[in-house]
Parts: sequence; structure tokens; C-alpha cells
Amino acid sequence: MSTALQIHASGIKLPVSLIPSTTKQISRASKRVGRIRCSATTPNKKYTIAVLPGDGIGTEVTPVAVEALRLAGSLEGIDFEFKEMLVGGAAYEATGVPFPEETLKASLESDAVYLGAVGITKKMPSSDHLPKHLRPEVGLMRIRRALGVYANLRPITVFPQLLEASSLKRSVTEEVDFMIIRELAGGLYYGKPRGFGINEKGEDTGFCTEIYSSSEVDRVARIAFDMAMERRGKVCSVDKATILESSRLWRKRVTIMSEEYPEVDLSHMLVDTSGMELIRYPKQFDVLLTTNVFGDILSDVSAMITGGIGMLPSACIGGPGPQLFEPVHGSAPDIEGEDVANPLAAVLTAVMLLRYGLKEEAVAKRIENAIFDTLNEGFRTRDISTPGAKIVGCKKMGEEILKSLYVRVPSYQLN
Ligand code: IPM
Ligand code: MG
Repeated sequence: MSTALQIHASGIKLPVSLIPSTTKQISRASKRVGRIRCSATTPNKKYTIAVLPGDGIGTEVTPVAVEALRLAGSLEGIDFEFKEMLVGGAAYEATGVPFPEETLKASLESDAVYLGAVGITKKMPSSDHLPKHLRPEVGLMRIRRALGVYANLRPITVFPQLLEASSLKRSVTEEVDFMIIRELAGGLYYGKPRGFGINEKGEDTGFCTEIYSSSEVDRVARIAFDMAMERRGKVCSVDKATILESSRLWRKRVTIMSEEYPEVDLSHMLVDTSGMELIRYPKQFDVLLTTNVFGDILSDVSAMITGGIGMLPSACIGGPGPQLFEPVHGSAPDIEGEDVANPLAAVLTAVMLLRYGLKEEAVAKRIENAIFDTLNEGFRTRDISTPGAKIVGCKKMGEEILKSLYVRVPSYQLN
């Protein structure tokens, strides 16, 4: 599969002796470092993952995530089959459309879908010249729709090693840990009517519609309340109910849904206020539930609390079939080919795939610990540089994560 080949060609490679490729090797390794859980007789579990690197830095960060999955999986007795497919600008260049049929088919047949990034590439820094249905972003919108995912989980978790990487003060960002739940299948991004027209003065107009039905709000609210029950028991629902009818309905339905969750403390906040509060005192949030467009904006804002957009993973869940996992790279400024992109969002997205998609918590924890360890060792990409850090590129960061996974993180940290 070509992602793996690219990885090896591009140098994200462990010394062969460190890669356990057979059960025998795994069991030998197990004796040596005493940290492998599976025994030589346990048949490996198997999962098929559709991997859609996309374009731009997606092609650089995705191999890092794939290799982390492969290695962490092998350490826990799990085999992954990765099926690499085209989406976004890469698909457009190769096939003339941003979301080919084969990509849809492979995605629907997989256990989970991993998508790297779509949008900006070196070759095509803007797609403004393309008709709307051919733009790279359409690939992303279509796959979300096709999989029926409607809740986008974006965790805003500050790593203690990166406190100095944020543009905000340490006292504001320390210990911040909340989950944005963005409605993903409706609202302004999908509402009809939409289009272009001409007004009574003869001027050109452009228009979109924000529309929510009660069931669309209820299902995403349920995910937020369930999530809060597993966390600190608070949901803050963000809307603009003072102005928008769609928000009035949103607020009403979220309030009705909260009656099923008496243990959860529900509050409502206007979106403009929430922008301010996220910067003033982000620690107040536990689960922040909001609409498609507000979630899109507020998650980029919140990324800066953690150090930047290169730290933000996401999980798109709720669909009937395989779920979708994508780092939040929508507006990432890095350009591919320079080996400067931060792969941590991509690897953290692999963690979400394991946790929320496959329910393989032990493997998820292993990768999480390896990231923690790599940051402890002082490695940083330039976007999250901190005083005294070792600044490395995307590939080197990936190598260090793999080293941490296999060599540095002791087993006692796994529980
Ligand atoms: C995101 C992105 C996408 C979105 C774009 C690329 C369509 O900004 O995932 O946040 O708006 O959903
Ligand atoms: Mg965005």
C-alpha cells in the first residue's frame, strides 16, 4: 500500500530490528522489554482502515499517523490493513473529481476512515478558479455526508509541555481540557436554498440558509450529554438565539434534551460571548456543543489555546457505518514539501480513531503516551516551539514518536 511505501521512501523508518513484523518477533521483543500484552498464541485482531491522505500537508502528516497505528497495533496484537484512496485536490488532479466513486466504496467497506487534509496545496494554493463541485473541500463535505457522520468531536487539551507554545498566558491555558462538539451534517453548510441571484437593485447576491430540524439538534445534543456524563458533567451550548430562528430552535431542543440528563449541568452562551470567554477563561468549559458554522470558527480559535491548529485532532461520529477521523487542518498555513508540518494533530487523530472508532483503548493510550514522551524529550515542530526545544521537521517528529512507542515509554505508564 503506497502510504507505507512513501513512508519508507521518505525516511520515516525505524531500524528494522525495532519493527516487530511477526508474532515470533513480537514475543521475543516482549521478553526483551517486558511490555507487550499479547501472547504468541493469541490470533491478531484485524481492521481495515481507508486512508485518504488528501492533498497538501495531508500527504506529509498521514504517513506518520499510519506508522504510529501500525506499530502500536502490532504491540497490542492488532493488524491494520490500510487502503489508500484519493480525495480532495489529489483526487481532482488524478481523476478530475474531488471525491471519486472508488474512494466512497473503499470507505464504506472499511472499519474506519482516516482523512489527512484537503484544500491548499503548493501547486494549487487557491481553488477559486474551479467550479464549486470540483473544489478540494467538496471531497471532505461529500465524505462526511456519505458516511452520515453528524457530530464532530474536537478536543481542546493543553499538553503541559506546550504551555509556552500558546499565544495566551500560562495562567489562562494551564490544565485546559474541553471537548467541542460541532454539529456536522446540517446548518448553514448544507441548508437550502443557497446560491447566487440578483436583487431588486440589479446587484449580484449570494445566499445560504441556516436550517435545523429538531431531530438534527437532538441527536448531536445526545452525544454532548453522553460525553459530559463521562467527563465533568457540564455542557455549554453555544448559539445566537437573540437573532437567529435556527438558534432559537437549537436552544429549545437542547434544553428539552437536557431533561433526560439531570446529572448534567447545562448552560447556554451566545456565540460572540463564547469567543471572548474562550480566550478569557477557557478552563470553565467541559463540553461545548454548537452548530456547524460556529463550531468551525470556535475550534480554530480554541486551537490557539493548545499551541495551534497543528495540535487539533477530530473525530466525526454518529453515522451508521464507519466513522471518519480527520485532523483539523482546514486552515493550516503550512505548505507541503518543506517538511515543516506538525504531525501531532494527525497522530492524535489516530488516537481518536482507536478510542472512538474501534474502541481499542489500550492502543490509543500507547500512542498518547508516546506523544507525551516525545514532547518530554523536547522535540517540537516550529509551530509549537518552546524555549530550549529541539526544533525538528515532520519526519523527524514522526521517527521520535515511533521510538517513544517502541523504546522509551515504559509499560507502567499504560494503565
Ligand atoms: C474544518 C474545515 C472544513 C469545514 C473545510 C475545509 C470545508 O474548515 O474541518 O474545520 O469547514 O468543515
Ligand atoms: Mg475549519
